[in-house]
Amino acid sequence: MTNKTELRIGLIGCGFMGRTHTNGYKRVSDFFPELTYRPVLKAVCSRNKDKVQAFADQWGYESVETDWKVLIARDDIDAIDICAPNNMHAEIAIAAAAAGKMILCEKPLARTLDEAVLMVNAIEKAGVKNTVWYNYRRVPAVTLAKQIIDSGKLGKIFHYRANFLQDWTISADLPQGGEALWRLDIDAAGSGVTGDLLAHCIDTAIWLNGGIKDVSAMTETFIKERMHQLTGKMEKVEIDDACLFHCHFNNGSLGLFESTRYARGHKALYTFEINGEHASIRWDLHDLNRLEYFDHADDSIVRGWRSIHVTDGDQPYMNKWWVPGLSIGYEHTFVHQVADFLKSLETGEPCSPTFQEALETQKVCQAVIESAASRSWKDI
Ligand SMILES: NC(=O)c1ccc[n+]([C@@H]2O[C@H](COP(=O)([O-])OP(=O)(O)OC[C@H]3O[C@@H](n4cnc5c(N)ncnc54)[C@H](O)[C@@H]3O)[C@@H](O)[C@H]2O)c1
Repeated sequence: MTNKTELRIGLIGCGFMGRTHTNGYKRVSDFFPELTYRPVLKAVCSRNKDKVQAFADQWGYESVETDWKVLIARDDIDAIDICAPNNMHAEIAIAAAAAGKMILCEKPLARTLDEAVLMVNAIEKAGVKNTVWYNYRRVPAVTLAKQIIDSGKLGKIFHYRANFLQDWTISADLPQGGEALWRLDIDAAGSGVTGDLLAHCIDTAIWLNGGIKDVSAMTETFIKERMHQLTGKMEKVEIDDACLFHCHFNNGSLGLFESTRYARGHKALYTFEINGEHASIRWDLHDLNRLEYFDHADDSIVRGWRSIHVTDGDQPYMNKWWVPGLSIGYEHTFVHQVADFLKSLETGEPCSPTFQEALETQKVCQAVIESAASRSWKDI
């Protein structure tokens, strides 16, 4: 441990993602002992002093701040990790880049394409290391899907299909805005399911199947007004509760995407399926260690969908964990992203997806929202 170079982390936001990232920083050196960098939990920042101190005490941060500008100004911080709501991403990232800090930013990169472009310009001008936490790329089964596709086993790709389904906003009594429900407030979130959920599907899709050429989308806001936590008044709901779009990929395949928070019975059902000329692949977050694979080259009497349990040492990331047959979970995707970021500091290579790569997802999200509003196709 003593020979390792410290990467002093300044975390902003100590909610859901603050916990997953911190768990990643704490676990990584134990499970990836070969890495020459070691994260140090230097400081955590959130607005409420008592809450942030309790978080620091529980998770082991050395110090706390309640103003992110003060955190960024500290010279004992190397990397700023942005785990605050979407409306904070651009301002924090641009300031952090100007201060020469590395930046690990939660998704979606920003609320809008304009904000995202400013962020990309800022990190390019400053030349700072950066990554965006599209963590599903680092589910071993999803990384294996990438390897299988890149090996050419699927042949020409015809179809890409993805869903991200939830059901937590069906009640009309649920308010919008404030600490817990900022996702329903357009000013804080930028969009509804498009930026929150479909952004994940789009990032994975671009990674697996290449760029998207154009989109045609529809969105719906089922509950038109909700009480706003910050004003105490009924206010118009401006986020998309559901979004469906279809698209052409640059490789000629057709894409079909659906996301909603109104699919009763589904909590976080992220699935994708890819159909190629020779083979197909499908994956389901609820069974994340499995990759379903159909290969038409199989002997016809045994041909069928096989369910690959992605736990063997020669499958992505799995030689870092237990023994073949034993599963890992959601939290490991964040450990993997921390490990890949630390590795990128050693090699000088980018840690995908970078801000620049996440901008492609942002372009698609923007085109989806504009297509739905104008009821027309939009080029990316
Ligand atoms: N990669 C993923 O799968 C994934 C999953 C969930 C959320 N996210 C993203 O992570 C980000 C945070 O989401 P979350 O679910 O952790 O939210 P959360 O509401 O659980 O936590 C947000 C935290 O930010 C803090 N915060 C808000 N404004 C602040 C400010 N001005 N200064 C300092 N701290 C501030 C809040 O106090 C809270 O601690 C969002 O951008 C979201 O889209 C990504």
